[in-house]
Amino acid sequence: MRKKLLLGNWKMNKTPSEAKAFALAAGEMVDLAVEHGIDVGVAPTFVCLEAVKSNINPKCIVAAQNVNEHEKGAYTGEISIAMLKEIGIDWVILGHSERREYNGETSVACNAKIKALLANDMTPVYCCGESEKTFDEGKTKDFVRHQIEEGFAGLSQEEAAKVVVAYEPIWAIGTGKSASKEIAEDTVGYIRLVLEGLFGGAIAEQIRILYGGSVKPENVSAYMSMPDIDGALVGGASLEPDSFLGLIKGML
Ligand code: 13P
Repeated sequence: MRKKLLLGNWKMNKTPSEAKAFALAAGEMVDLAVEHGIDVGVAPTFVCLEAVKSNINPKCIVAAQNVNEHEKGAYTGEISIAMLKEIGIDWVILGHSERREYNGETSVACNAKIKALLANDMTPVYCCGESEKTFDEGKTKDFVRHQIEEGFAGLSQEEAAKVVVAYEPIWAIGTGKSASKEIAEDTVGYIRLVLEGLFGGAIAEQIRILYGGSVKPENVSAYMSMPDIDGALVGGASLEPDSFLGLIKGML
């Protein structure tokens, strides 16, 4: 039985003091989620990680939005795994479509990061998802299969089971035009099939797959009612405590 997971991706929002205010306000709602068997977390920017980690309910997952796969050295502007670990961060979002679009992040690059994270007992949240053009052309499954195959290349079964996947159709991100629960389930179920082909049914059944793209307190329960969707990766609606609580309540 896969555990439900709600993850807020704050993207480039909140200063450290704003992030701290959220952390202080979120204590009870994290308990509510955990009491109902739901894993819950937020992904602030790098400069807000410590403020959140040191002020939020310790049961809350705190994730970074990226990491560099190299151990250390001449990589100006980058953040290493050891730096995150030292401040208690052990989850990292990878391959978000915004990083793919604006920072040239590829699935092959994500694969190296996934391997480095797993080697350090950390949890990667690997994002995939197609553009509106790809969706309109009916090529979503081919596109996403490719992203999954490249992202998971060379992983053992044991390693693959530890990766969280987030399916986020780009056309649904920040647009208010969320994918219907049927469309989301169709692709998420297909991703599970691809994973089954790569790692076998028992492993594919363990891998958590989230949906993301205009998830709100009002529609999160619809996604949660679908058999292959294990949770949500949420942008805009994760930024305010009231709305975050609404998301948790919608998942109960
Ligand atoms: P929105 O929930 O704002 O559409 O963003 C989704 C997302 O990109 C989460 O990673």
